[in-house]
Amino acid sequence: MVMVDANQIRQVFTNIIINAEQAMLEGGNLTIRAKSRGNTVSIVFSDNGCGIPPAAIKKIFDPLFTTKARGIGLGLSVCKSILERRGGDILVESKEGRGAAFTVVLPLRKTGKCTTYTVSLPK
Ligand SMILES: Nc1ncnc2c1ncn2[C@@H]1O[C@H](COP(=O)(O)OP(=O)(O)O)[C@@H](O)[C@H]1O
Ligand SMILES: [Mg+2]
Repeated sequence: MVMVDANQIRQVFTNIIINAEQAMLEGGNLTIRAKSRGNTVSIVFSDNGCGIPPAAIKKIFDPLFTTKARGIGLGLSVCKSILERRGGDILVESKEGRGAAFTVVLPLRKTGKCTTYTVSLPK
């Protein structure tokens, strides 16, 4: 079981999906896969957009880092702080010109035989 605030996890997923769309303005595919390994669940968002140059990849989680004309550069830094506060993480792999894959890692707690992923809705 993973307990996450619905608004916050929605914000994480939305930021990643919007970035993927903006990286694939000439079309492409975003693939979303979930897998569980050990005591974590990973949700992998892979796009085949513009990718991230090696010099930028170290900075993309920094607040205010953007490569977009109208970017704000807060999306990924907000994702990272939301996830780290919950014992999770966000990782990136990319080949420039080929695409990018963002992995959201959430800590998993097993309850009995079944593994559930609970998103608590705000009242
Ligand atoms: N899917 C992606 N493909 C290529 N580059 C990306 C992707 N996601 C994020 N980036 C890079 O990371 C930077 C920071 O992203 P983010 O924090 O969401 O800010 P913003 O979207 O406002 O630029 C982007 O400007 C872009 O250079
Ligand atoms: Mg963004």
